[in-house]
Amino acid sequence: MIAVRRRFTGQFITILALLLLWHFFSPWELSIQRRNELLNTNIDTTTFSVGAAPSNPAGASQDTGQKRDDIERKLGDSERAFLELVGGQSTPSSLAHGDAVKSIYNIRTREDWLDLIESQDDHGLLALTKITQRYIYEKQHPSECGTQRYLILNKFPGDDAFGLGAIVQRISDYLSVAIQTNSILLYATDVSPGEHFISEDRTGWCGRSLDCVFQELSNCTSKAQHGLSSNTQSIFSDGQLDLDVEAFLRKHKYPIPLVFEEALKKIQPDITGEMLKYWWRAQASAYIMRFNHDTSRRLKQFRLGEDTKQLGIQWDVNGDPNQVDVPFPLPEGTISMHVRHGDKGSEMRLVPFNDYVVRAEKFTAENPLGSWKRGFLSTEDPNVIEQMKTMARITPFSYSGSNSRWTWYWTDIPRLNTGPETQLREFGNRTDLTIKWMLQLVMAIECDAFIGTRGSGWNRLIDSLRCTWLASCKQPFLEVGFEDDWVGYGP
Ligand SMILES: *[C@@H]1O[C@H](CO)[C@@H](O)[C@H](O)[C@H]1NC(C)=O
Ligand SMILES: *[C@@H]1O[C@H](CO)[C@@H](O)[C@H](O)[C@H]1NC(C)=O
Repeated sequence: MIAVRRRFTGQFITILALLLLWHFFSPWELSIQRRNELLNTNIDTTTFSVGAAPSNPAGASQDTGQKRDDIERKLGDSERAFLELVGGQSTPSSLAHGDAVKSIYNIRTREDWLDLIESQDDHGLLALTKITQRYIYEKQHPSECGTQRYLILNKFPGDDAFGLGAIVQRISDYLSVAIQTNSILLYATDVSPGEHFISEDRTGWCGRSLDCVFQELSNCTSKAQHGLSSNTQSIFSDGQLDLDVEAFLRKHKYPIPLVFEEALKKIQPDITGEMLKYWWRAQASAYIMRFNHDTSRRLKQFRLGEDTKQLGIQWDVNGDPNQVDVPFPLPEGTISMHVRHGDKGSEMRLVPFNDYVVRAEKFTAENPLGSWKRGFLSTEDPNVIEQMKTMARITPFSYSGSNSRWTWYWTDIPRLNTGPETQLREFGNRTDLTIKWMLQLVMAIECDAFIGTRGSGWNRLIDSLRCTWLASCKQPFLEVGFEDDWVGYGP
């Protein structure tokens, strides 16, 4: 009876979500179409306000439809000061890889993140990471809050259906706008972007915002964070700026702050637009996702086997699998494989697990002195875990690597081969499940080689974080999808 009622409730929620999606997206699509028509007939588009949604006639009468969809591209003093730093002396690491990994599990204050990044070798990080992370941090942490302008970001329409990678990617667009408009980005507190990742019992100071699991975006708050209407995606706290942020984002698609674009062009004049976008999203993710003290502590409990099991198997010479402990951190040379299945089939070609192992076999065969067949496997597909448990090696294989059989490590987290929301609904405490997923990210970046497909947002996150939190950017990433999968992704 209860099960039936639950299923009914589930269906009801799905239908409601679809209706909401339609409600929110369809007027936008109409707006975009109308914008395009206007563009085609050469009418000045700046007078057409996309922000004044037809569903909000009250707002429309205030919004006189004069908002701009562009930002003046100019550099101020702080931007020029940043550009002066480009090309400065690089510093080697002052922290061994294993200790750097451990410090992600021992975060206390927000300064710990800057210290961690500062202690890495510049050459192993994504270009300009140290100065960029500090620049974003300082923009978001001014010495005085009263005179600042804030950009408040509301929940995205239908974002309950999004994975964490997609949410963070969208937030990074708004972080870019904030930086370019001299504003500080904050989450709305009544309903917040990605609130479905946070347990319903979190009603304290952070509401149900990502500030509950990550370091706060800023050490300032604003009254404007409260009371946003659900059809306002974002607002500036002072109402002074006549920028229509959503129209700007639609127009520019991949906004990287001008200051960083100029900085990258200083060191790499022929850098491509796709690379600028990918670089920015990596830096923004690294900033947005800095775990807070509670998350880091919980992460460490899970990592050390409290409330969740870390599992490992190794085959003996008779070909029998034996359980082994999972070292902390993972041994040097471990290969991370993130197998993205789940709901992703609707968007991209799913790569069978076998292909990942074949790719890894080939890599170890090409690098026999330097590699050992140890793999850390993450996936939302329980079948992949079952397959792994029986996979000692790929046979027949025409060449052989360093050792014949694999050692596998994985975490015993609840898995369902579906999208994120179904899992969050099924498995109890949302915050805990979110942290278990983030543990999969961190364990992946504990590794030294990466097999995956950048067509998946989660794999792009792994790629981004290994290059910004840890100096593993020059370690091999072996693509099992198409090699240019990272180009042209995302809205
Ligand atoms: C915010 O943090 C920065 C850097 O940690 C600090 O210098 C500043 O005084 C803080 N601002 C406020 C208003 O607490
Ligand atoms: C859910 O998990 C979070 C993070 O571990 C914890 O703080 C919270 O108390 C948990 N809530 C419940 C109801 O267990």
